[in-house]
Amino acid sequence: MATLDLFSSEPAQPDSAAHQRVQALREWLHAYGHAYYVLDAPVVPDAEYDRLFQELQALETAHPEWLTPDSPTQRVGGKPLDAFATVRHVVPMLSIRTETDTESTGAEAFDARVRKELELDAGDAPVEYVAELKFDGLAMSLRYEQGVLVQAATRGDGEYGEDVTQNIRTIGQIPLKLPAGVPAVLEVRGEVYMRRDDFEAMNEKQREKGEKTFVNPRNAAAGAVRQLDPGIAAQRPLSFFAYGLGEVTPTEQGGPAFSTHYAMLQTLKSWGFPVAAQVDIARGAPELIAYHQRIGAARDQLPYDIDGVVYKVNSLALQRQLGFITREPRWAVAHKYPAQEQITKVLGIDVQVGRTGKLTPVARLDPVFVGGTTVSNATLHNLFELRRKRVRVGDRAIVRRAGDVIPEVVGIVVATRPAYVPNFRMPRSCPICGSAVVREKTEMNHRCSGGLFCPAQRKQAILHYAQRRAVEVEGLGEKLVDQLVESNTIRTLPDLYKLGLSTLAALDRMAEKSAQNIVAALEKSKQTTLPRFLFGLGIRHVGEATAKELVRHFGTLDAIMDASEEALTGVSDVGPIVAKSLHTFFAQPHNREVVEQLRACGVTWPEGAPADAGPKPLAGKTLVLTGTLPTLGRDAAKDLIEAAGGKVSGSVSKKTHYVVAGAEAGSKLDKAQELGVPVLDEAGLLELLK
Ligand code: IVH
Repeated sequence: MATLDLFSSEPAQPDSAAHQRVQALREWLHAYGHAYYVLDAPVVPDAEYDRLFQELQALETAHPEWLTPDSPTQRVGGKPLDAFATVRHVVPMLSIRTETDTESTGAEAFDARVRKELELDAGDAPVEYVAELKFDGLAMSLRYEQGVLVQAATRGDGEYGEDVTQNIRTIGQIPLKLPAGVPAVLEVRGEVYMRRDDFEAMNEKQREKGEKTFVNPRNAAAGAVRQLDPGIAAQRPLSFFAYGLGEVTPTEQGGPAFSTHYAMLQTLKSWGFPVAAQVDIARGAPELIAYHQRIGAARDQLPYDIDGVVYKVNSLALQRQLGFITREPRWAVAHKYPAQEQITKVLGIDVQVGRTGKLTPVARLDPVFVGGTTVSNATLHNLFELRRKRVRVGDRAIVRRAGDVIPEVVGIVVATRPAYVPNFRMPRSCPICGSAVVREKTEMNHRCSGGLFCPAQRKQAILHYAQRRAVEVEGLGEKLVDQLVESNTIRTLPDLYKLGLSTLAALDRMAEKSAQNIVAALEKSKQTTLPRFLFGLGIRHVGEATAKELVRHFGTLDAIMDASEEALTGVSDVGPIVAKSLHTFFAQPHNREVVEQLRACGVTWPEGAPADAGPKPLAGKTLVLTGTLPTLGRDAAKDLIEAAGGKVSGSVSKKTHYVVAGAEAGSKLDKAQELGVPVLDEAGLLELLK
């Protein structure tokens, strides 16, 4: 659990009990908010936070004279503005020189310039740098006076920016109040950004409502920050990382005396600011290059967009010695990665049929290198979004691919459209099975009405069931499923378990050994868990997390199948849409039949007590898995940890409680050793789970 002494140094007020209560509530809420938003390690349940928050709100309503701008209640609200006021940056907000080459020469050229400027010889020691991520958001300057956030300003032209304080207050990760002992004047600079998952979820909501989507997380973040109505800004999920300072009380007047950039960042962190865990010290060009490569390889796994890394000379004395050229410091450089957006030509628009029958228009593209891979197809999501973006065959389109998110067309370059091109139309019948295409009035998506009659849906349903995160049938890939469905060998899921060696071995390009492997994998898949099975059924809106919640709540499949819509909405995470989808699914006799047949084929899971009932030895603990464990698969290990109340994270930080390392563990193991995080092997993990 996080320690909470950060904010408890406020002098006791000799005022009324009610006023003292207000102050105590604010301190608790600041500390809980910091644990939740910045450390990502909540220390109280949400309900407790809400209760204290409401109590504070009520006291402040009764005593408006006690209201202060740093109160946690002041994050939301505020009146819409007509325009933003202008703010002058006493310390200008500079830009940094960018090395656009994506290979190593960017780092070498920078190091060479620094060494030349510092008049270092080949025999002198390597220069020490701090290597950081270059976040793809917008720069922000946060001004604190006596530890209270008084102003947030955009960069603008570097000298004059806009006062966006009202909107910035709504960002939970940005402290409104700092612990005692911070400089009287403190400007913290950093990047406001939007996480990719927040961005996707926000766009998905916009799409469902048939409203305009945002082009990319950076634009969405910039739009939110420049919203004149803070009520709207408050609904946009923004985040923040600190990476520097602006105006600060000088050392002679009691201000801080940092000697390195790295120490400054660590201090900002201790004051409650989010600082990226990837900040690292690098000596000389070779270590900069290694950092560039390491982050480049991990870029897709980061939860937010970066467009490069930044190198900064660590010593602040050397930074001063190096100084500036016009508007750029000589002591820092940005080193880019391949762009996540590119322009290419739309060669055609195809329609794909998904697992739930959804018809997705997909742009066939002139292949283009974007976000580190070659992309030749990009989703257009649905007819309405395609129309809003005015995409037509022959257009030059802007394609985005970031992280694991499937590539999408975010817009077109209108001016370049050739002559008249007919608008795209959704087919009236399914391109795969010919069934009627339907769309409900309240829905944005067109669907094939063929259900499991439609081979496209059948294939997707089987692949979904057989995937690693569901029931897992190893080796049952796309090509094999195509053959099995097209030859009509498999019509419904239970047909899978009727596959014999001879049927399989008779298939095209199927060796005897591979057929044996598939049969063995099918046999193995029969021992599963209820959440995996439920997820594997492919019920609309029921993802892995929802399946787990359902099982935690109801305990058995029969209880879930027989639950009313009302009972289903009692599960956390389950809203009316999910409840309806589940209820409709299990109301259909043929779906129940599929479940019964699968059970009859021998598919089983430990059923009975809800998963919650067991002991939770790993409650509140975060673990990271790396390398190959001797017996447990990665998913199995994850399941076990989660069942024991623990969380599995993708990256090692000081917040990590244990790293579980197997054979060929890589940089995560190094990081754990560096940070002093305990490292376990598989036996150690199993011991913990007891
Ligand atoms: S340092 C004097 N560090 O990149 C140096 N900038 O032109 C000031 N950015 O828009 C900038 N991540 O908002 C710095 N780790 C990082 C950064 C970063 C992103 C942005 C910054 C500005 C641009 C620099």
